[in-house]
Amino acid sequence: MTRILNTQMRAYIQDKLDAGNESQLKWKGSKGDILDLALLDPDYGKSASTSELVDQLKTFFFAGHDTTASTLSWSYYFLSHHPHELLRLRKELDEVFGINTTPSEVAKNFVDDPKLHTKLDFTLAIIKESLRLEPPAAPAREAIPNYQFKTTSGKAFYPPDGTMIYISAWMLHRNPRVWGDDAGEFKPDRFMPGNPLPWGYIAFAKRPRDCIGSNLAYLEVCTSVNCINLVGEDYFGAYGEKF
Ligand code: HEM
Repeated sequence: MTRILNTQMRAYIQDKLDAGNESQLKWKGSKGDILDLALLDPDYGKSASTSELVDQLKTFFFAGHDTTASTLSWSYYFLSHHPHELLRLRKELDEVFGINTTPSEVAKNFVDDPKLHTKLDFTLAIIKESLRLEPPAAPAREAIPNYQFKTTSGKAFYPPDGTMIYISAWMLHRNPRVWGDDAGEFKPDRFMPGNPLPWGYIAFAKRPRDCIGSNLAYLEVCTSVNCINLVGEDYFGAYGEKF
């Protein structure tokens, strides 16, 4: 599998390199991809080896694909169970993009105005609340020598060097001590401007090694969520679920 992936990626990169300036033209015409952008960088584009580019592409696929797909699926799921929030979402999308806009029109709006998502407070709140209840990723770290951590009761632990420590975003995001008694409920208003964001939100982890793709993920999911406006009012469960 790895061999096939490597071979195909190498061929894809070689095609781009052979195409030369075409990358630049494609990117300017908004038809390029992330590899075009990397190759266009005056320093990185010239110095990066093919193996390094393959690794970078794999990271983008691995870190950026399933995470975003899962977020979108859960957003649709929660909206299907909360018709009132769905109505509010549709209202905001209509106001910002106009009625019955196609995904490519929405994408173009984002390209023309990269700050457009700042007008989508409620859409972002829906995405963040879906990510809170069903986070697709969480940080894992290797314990450095003499690493120590304390529980909330004050008990100290010294994990052996090299222990992998996984912080469960799912458990932290549903902890009533962090989010209140309604921690298990879908309430996007928690993330509306003006409401303080609890420290325990780690959907994109915390610095210094937090997600570098969070803004891209928000853009992608915002664009796709707008498709919800193009389908009818009702949802039908694929497996006989009742809504
Ligand atoms: C909803 C979508 C996404 C979620 C929930 C998410 C979540 C996360 C989390 C929790 C981490 C930290 C992992 C750790 O510390 O062990 C992370 C790291 C990372 N993410 Fe994302 N991610 C998303 C989308 C993306 C996208 C679209 C890209 C790029 C195209 C991306 C690229 C990365 C990279 C490169 C890292 C490693 C950063 C580093 O180690 O310095 N992610 N992401």
